[in-house]
Amino acid sequence: MNPKILLQTPLHPDSLALLQKAEVVGPILEPRDALVALRDCHALIVAAHWHITGDVMDSAPLLRVVGRPGIGLDNIDLAAATARGVVVVHTPDAPTESTAQHAAALILALSKRLKEADNALRKHGLEIRGDYLGVELRSKTLAVIGLGRIGSRVAEIFRAAFQMRVLGYDPYVDAARAAQLGVELRRNLHDVLREADVVTLHPALTSETRHLIGAAELAVIKPTAILVNVSRGPVVDEAALLAALREKRIAGAGLDVFDPEPPARDNPLFDLDNVIVTPHIGSWTHDGTRAMSVGVAENVMSVLRGERPATGLANPEVWGNRRVVHVRA
Ligand SMILES: NC(=O)c1ccc[n+]([C@@H]2O[C@H](COP(=O)([O-])OP(=O)(O)OC[C@H]3O[C@@H](n4cnc5c(N)ncnc54)[C@H](O)[C@@H]3O)[C@@H](O)[C@H]2O)c1
Repeated sequence: MNPKILLQTPLHPDSLALLQKAEVVGPILEPRDALVALRDCHALIVAAHWHITGDVMDSAPLLRVVGRPGIGLDNIDLAAATARGVVVVHTPDAPTESTAQHAAALILALSKRLKEADNALRKHGLEIRGDYLGVELRSKTLAVIGLGRIGSRVAEIFRAAFQMRVLGYDPYVDAARAAQLGVELRRNLHDVLREADVVTLHPALTSETRHLIGAAELAVIKPTAILVNVSRGPVVDEAALLAALREKRIAGAGLDVFDPEPPARDNPLFDLDNVIVTPHIGSWTHDGTRAMSVGVAENVMSVLRGERPATGLANPEVWGNRRVVHVRA
């Protein structure tokens, strides 16, 4: 029997050859329909918006492996997967460059007020140019919250390209690693926020980082500073951010992620001129999507073949107790 794989997200065409030996179902994007299709599948490749709980896994008795293109695993109940012998794989390195570049694009666009100036030129002509003075980044202070793969790369980009001073906050990174990155590590979040001209958020979403940036944190950020979030929406208290932006207590925000996702079409943040929003496309470049798709397809197929993936095994403790699959993969 060939394995049956449900796609709940489209994959880059270059990855489909890797799935040749499998019967591929989908992509079926709507979770309710995907849940029905999952019943007799051996593998699931899932996007960020469907929560893979123990109940979902229980509805799929043949399920052996869940694959997530990208790094974020906050929508997959890893403990429930491990308890059921289901292997979870992802591609942690694949989205790094594209997502770091997305943060950089938002930072540059906000500091030069590109969205506001573009809108104003279309409506009013060139005479408005004096109203849209931006700021230079050179020698200013960047605060990187979360110094993992993406945060480190953003730090590197802005240090190298604009000679920015980079402050970092990440309780799980040590001084030696920060020094290697040329980042001044601080142990107090408010200290970092207080000094920053640009704040960029890159922590994983955990119970600790939910609403890491709330009213108290926004209150210490300079009124001239900008905030960028390409991590996960719930890292920021959206209501508090809205109030800070409306009252001009911070200068602007660039947001690729929202809470909840998908965001409501009438999300009041969308009405503010000093906010740039993008639809969770941080990692979505030709290169990024290809790397994520190929990586997840390789990892899912190796699990189905009974081979331990070299990278991207999210719950390694399951390996000795995983459900065994008798398929020709
Ligand atoms: N917008 C997008 O399209 C997109 C794409 C890829 C990743 N992401 C998000 O970006 C996040 C970061 O990705 P990454 O590849 O750098 O992950 P990573 O695992 O390499 O880094 C996450 C960092 O967060 C740090 N962290 C944990 N708790 C923290 C806390 N309380 N305060 C500050 N830092 C804390 C960790 O120590 C780690 O260094 C992912 O978890 C994902 O949610 C978004």
